[in-house]
Amino acid sequence: MRTISEETIKAYLNADMGKELSVYSVIDSTNNAAKLLAKNGAPHGAVVVAGRQTAGKGRLGRSFYSPDAEGIYMSVILRPQLRAEYSILMTSAVSVAAARAIELVSGVSVKIKWVNDLYWNGKKLCGILTESSLAPGGTLDYAVIGIGINVSTNSFPPELSDKATSLAAAGCGELDANRLIAEILNQFAVVYRQLATREFLEEYKARSCVLGKTVQVVRGEDVYEATAIDIDRDAHLLVATKSGEQRVLSSGEVSLKGNWM
Ligand code: BTN
Repeated sequence: MRTISEETIKAYLNADMGKELSVYSVIDSTNNAAKLLAKNGAPHGAVVVAGRQTAGKGRLGRSFYSPDAEGIYMSVILRPQLRAEYSILMTSAVSVAAARAIELVSGVSVKIKWVNDLYWNGKKLCGILTESSLAPGGTLDYAVIGIGINVSTNSFPPELSDKATSLAAAGCGELDANRLIAEILNQFAVVYRQLATREFLEEYKARSCVLGKTVQVVRGEDVYEATAIDIDRDAHLLVATKSGEQRVLSSGEVSLKGNWM
């Protein structure tokens, strides 16, 4: 994977996101760095990128495997005029932007597992972690959206080896990470403008690998099987339980067992 550099990423940017860019060779977590910058007033669209993370974070308190020069680790600072309950929409928009960018730059076609994981061939290729801070009145002061993509990783730790994959494993040859980072930001600038109209949700649904499938829903202690029926205007997942009850999920996790196609 080609080394990341501020200059090369900027050369590929064609939108406002990423104009303020901090590039580190190593950092604990780009989300942590971005949150600190946001607290100190960094503007909407500022971005942190690192070549390696020593404490990369995933959702639900998990860690994110972040080896040197094998993946993309980046966080975007947003200052949306949005109530907190709509932050799931931003995360969905980022999923679409990342999926498009990956496809454009690497030729690898990816699916979205609600709400924000990107998959190839039944394994996770990219994870997205949104962390936000509330302003008085329930709107967002800022949101930090962290994106982690496995690019050239050939071997994962044992606990990940049957769940994770990389662009290299998906057949992508040498890839310029600078171009992919910039393309994610360019695509995100496009879908971000569609938050009010939800235009990007059509593509989100078309890329979904859960719709029409039996999924396992995990919401804290509550674990059950259901059929994923639809994704609504607010990016919530509609499921039908075995007893036919319909539920609208705005948080939690779903997993697919075996039936990826
Ligand atoms: C998940 O899979 O649960 C989300 C993973 C998010 C990983 C990215 S890597 C860049 C940013 N910094 C972090 O510490 N986490 C996110």
